[in-house]
Order: sequence, then C-alpha cells, then structure tokens
Amino acid sequence: MFDPDRFSRGEAKATLGSYFPFGLGPRMCTGASYVTFLGIKVIARLCSMFDFETVNTDEVRPDSTLYLKPSRPVLCKVHKRKFSK
Ligand code: HEM
Repeated sequence: MFDPDRFSRGEAKATLGSYFPFGLGPRMCTGASYVTFLGIKVIARLCSMFDFETVNTDEVRPDSTLYLKPSRPVLCKVHKRKFSK
C-alpha cells in the first residue's frame, strides 16, 4: 500500500532505497536537491491557490521503471480557492 506517512508515524524505518525518484548510486540525478527544494515550493504554492479533486479513484500503484512515478495519470479537477491571491 502506498502510505508514505508510515515513516512519520514511526511504523517503518526510512532506509536507502525507500524513496528513489532520482535514481540511486553513482549515476543518481545531480539535480535532486535542487528539484526537491523547488518542488516543495511549487507544490506549496499550488496547494495554497487551488484544491485538487481526483477524478478517477481506481488504484494507483507505484511504477519504478527507470524512476518512481504513478502507474497511471492521476487526473484531477482543479478548483480555485476562494481566498487565493
Ligand atoms: C523532477 C525533476 C527530476 C527528476 C524526477 C529527475 C530524475 C532523474 C533520474 C531518474 C535520473 C537517472 C538516475 C540513474 O541513472 O540512476 C537522473 C539523472 C540526471 N539528472 Fe535528473 N531529474 C530531475 C531534474 C533534474 C535537474 C533539474 C537537473 C539539473 C539541474 C538534473 C540533472 C541530472 C543529471 C546531470 C543526470 C545524470 C547523472 C549521471 O548520469 O551521472 N535532473 N535524473
């Protein structure tokens, strides 16, 4: 089950390889730190401006072919938040 909160709840220990959207090892993405920083800023900004409602509730599995991604597109209806700038 995709449950990333299991790490913050202390039910699982994060080990090398638990999270690998940027690959692993000597050829790991050199932009990983930059994109992680930027990604958090972009997601925080989008979530402050919009609400996201998933359209298709079919199961989404992690697909680790080459890099970690959802097994299918996660389509959403995007609603502008009332008090967003
Ligand atoms: C969300 C954005 C990004 C994702 C998901 C991503 C993911 C990846 C992945 C999966 C690899 C292959 C790692 C492997 O072979 O094990 C890679 C390699 C690489 N990435 Fe990224 N990347 C991102 C953004 C960037 C950015 C912004 C830069 C540069 C500023 C960058 C520079 C590189 C370079 C130079 C490599 C080749 C490293 C090597 O072969 O030694 N990436 N990236």
